[in-house]
Amino acid sequence: MPVMIVVGVQWGDEGKGKIVDFLTERAKLVVRFQGGNNAGHTVIVEGRKTALKLIPSGILRPATRCLLAAGVVVDPQALFAEFDALGEVGIEVTPQRFGIAGEVTLVLPYHRAIDAEREAQLAAKKIGTTGKGIGPAYEDSVSRYAVRAADLFNPSHLEALISRNVELKNKYLKAVLNSETQFDAKELFDELCALAGRLKPYLANVSLEVNEACARNEYVMFEGAQGSLLDINHGTYPYVTSSHTVAGFACVSAGFGPRLTNLVVGICKAYATRVGSGPFPTEDLTEEGARMREVGREFGTVTGRPRRCGWFDVMAVRRAARLNGIDTLVITKLDVLSGFSQVKLGVSYELDGTPLQDLPVCADDIERLKVKYEELPGWNEDITAVRSFGELPKAAQEVLRRIEDAVQCRIGGFSVGPDREQTIIMDERIRSFAKV
Ligand code: GDP
Ligand code: IMO
Ligand code: MG
Repeated sequence: MPVMIVVGVQWGDEGKGKIVDFLTERAKLVVRFQGGNNAGHTVIVEGRKTALKLIPSGILRPATRCLLAAGVVVDPQALFAEFDALGEVGIEVTPQRFGIAGEVTLVLPYHRAIDAEREAQLAAKKIGTTGKGIGPAYEDSVSRYAVRAADLFNPSHLEALISRNVELKNKYLKAVLNSETQFDAKELFDELCALAGRLKPYLANVSLEVNEACARNEYVMFEGAQGSLLDINHGTYPYVTSSHTVAGFACVSAGFGPRLTNLVVGICKAYATRVGSGPFPTEDLTEEGARMREVGREFGTVTGRPRRCGWFDVMAVRRAARLNGIDTLVITKLDVLSGFSQVKLGVSYELDGTPLQDLPVCADDIERLKVKYEELPGWNEDITAVRSFGELPKAAQEVLRRIEDAVQCRIGGFSVGPDREQTIIMDERIRSFAKV
């Protein structure tokens, strides 16, 4: 029952896609378990770049089947656009290679409109969402108003759902959000009927497939999207996404028992980034943060927005390690720190003069935190050709050791560039699992 769950332990964009791709050469299944096309995972293989949003990063491995589990929200138009984009780079997303749970909630045009209108109304207090309608779609799921993928194949039921929902959303847009945007139920119904035929061959029983693969002792990988500090319950609420991003949700979403999980791997950058609004205790607004953005090319895959940059936050990652039960961390983008005279680690928090053991619950309090930093000597060498821990400059080794010590979680690997080959895995459990 070799199940591995890979999650981001910061605010997203940790390089999950790159590491999942690296670890899935022999995976039978790669399963996305939450989020939607708010995710953007860039994978580079031999210099060729692929940007993935909804489709798991395992799609780059020809023998791997990719699945979207029940807890994912799917914008069908975005999904087909991704099929087409992958087709253009020679990756054909066939029903053998990709499946989607009938239970997934669909993201529909009214969700996108509500997302945009709400953000506009929140103005200075906006969450800074990706604008993909993710939050409103999850709301429909929880309120039991969702249109789910399986509903597309029952036209009379679909028509009734769409007609009720469009009426409600139109009222909400007009009366509550004061918006001019309105939708036509018949038009949306026709649009969805036209998409249904294309989606049908991809419908899958994800829980059954996952459990059967486990019973056959096949390698199943769960790919997280976003990051632990964007989790709807455990993140920096309300500046979070609307799904559970932590590892435990893989079981809930894909329908398997927690005892089947063997290894939980946390991905984090050697520094920290965040897109959108919300507290970011170790944010660096000086030229050092700007340099991280420049060297690390920290611009969003989905929205192109510049990512906010700052230093590694030990307290935040320690919290995430606990929330997920991380067995081992993989540190990405270590190469971006080459050339900094000093590398800072935010090691502890104080609020109103009192030392804290964890992130406070309320965003306002997180904003007011004082962070204590440790400064470690930097290095100047280009490390992008390094392929083992021993080849790293001593100062870089020391940074990894200090992170491991401070977070109290083993570092099982690191990455020194965006390409698949620029990945070094030391942890024997990951190596034997993924046969890398
Ligand atoms: P994800 O959302 O967690 O999959 O991460 P993204 O793909 O949104 O963002 C990570 C970015 O960093 C991508 O452009 C990757 O190609 C790039 N990347 C990943 N690992 C490394 C690394 O070790 N070094 C450098 N320089 N870039 C990396
Ligand atoms: P990946 O998988 C970074 C952020 C948005 C916003 C908040 C809510 O590439 O790591 P949403 O559209 O989800 O309602 O926006 O969450 N966010 C991400 N930030 N990486 C992501 O995904 C993100 N997905 C959502 O910027 O602050
Ligand atoms: Mg991303």
